[in-house]
Amino acid sequence: MKITPLDAALGARITDLDLSKTVADGEFERICAAWLEHAVLIFPNQVLSENHLVAFSARFGWLELPPASESRTRGDGGAVLPEIWNISNVKVSGEAIGSLGNLEAEWHTDMSYLENPPTASILYAREIPDQGGNTSFANMHAALEAMPKELRRRLEGKSVIHDSAYTSVGELRKGATIVADVSDVRGAVHAAIRKHPESGRPVLYMGRRLNASFIDLPTQQSERLLDEVWAFCTQPEFAYEHVWTVGDLVIWDNRSVIHRRDAFDNGERRIMWRTQVKASAGTSQLTA
Ligand code: SIN
Repeated sequence: MKITPLDAALGARITDLDLSKTVADGEFERICAAWLEHAVLIFPNQVLSENHLVAFSARFGWLELPPASESRTRGDGGAVLPEIWNISNVKVSGEAIGSLGNLEAEWHTDMSYLENPPTASILYAREIPDQGGNTSFANMHAALEAMPKELRRRLEGKSVIHDSAYTSVGELRKGATIVADVSDVRGAVHAAIRKHPESGRPVLYMGRRLNASFIDLPTQQSERLLDEVWAFCTQPEFAYEHVWTVGDLVIWDNRSVIHRRDAFDNGERRIMWRTQVKASAGTSQLTA
């Protein structure tokens, strides 16, 4: 197994490893250490069944099941195991086999609207479009470290409410209520600057821009500060853009990384299988 850091603010490629075979404990420890150090790991050329993906993902912890609001119709390349979320624009008889369609997904951290968001997200590329659908990742340790002192000072001690009503492509989840005003948002509250539970390093934890607001700040002030922070932390110097090849498996640290996805032509097919590693209470809850 070979670990090669990317020439970017985060990420490493892991080659010479077949994830359809059981990964030896020693190798898995190196993978975990690399995941904490580089935050995003890319395993190219993997040929995995649903069972392989679930077995490898489960080495990182319990797996989160997709919420009932996630679209899922069976067939045409969509995974059927309950632990796998289909991220896809493919439809069967007019019904989506998965979530997010072909739209742009804005910068976000997965499921930050939960009290205990997942620790890791894993995405496995099954079918990809010729163009578009690239996924970018940004390092929130690096962004915080590079942040002007004055901006960081304004964030210290502040918390943000994280909206649960909309997906990262801006669609209202099934059963959720339209947010007419940011003061109506439902979702978890997290400190804007936290300590990573495993490394103890300070990290910026903003979730997503849509419908966010700082607790205890008047709306206009909160909006201005959010715009400033998001403009800063999403600069290309903190990011890496992944251009997918079928067979790529990517795992990222959901506690220190935000990600976004480009839109793509809806006439093309994109099928990704995703798993989410559940936060175990007390370990993934980042402390302020
Ligand atoms: C996601 O935001 O989790 C999906 C990313 C992607 O489709 O590349």
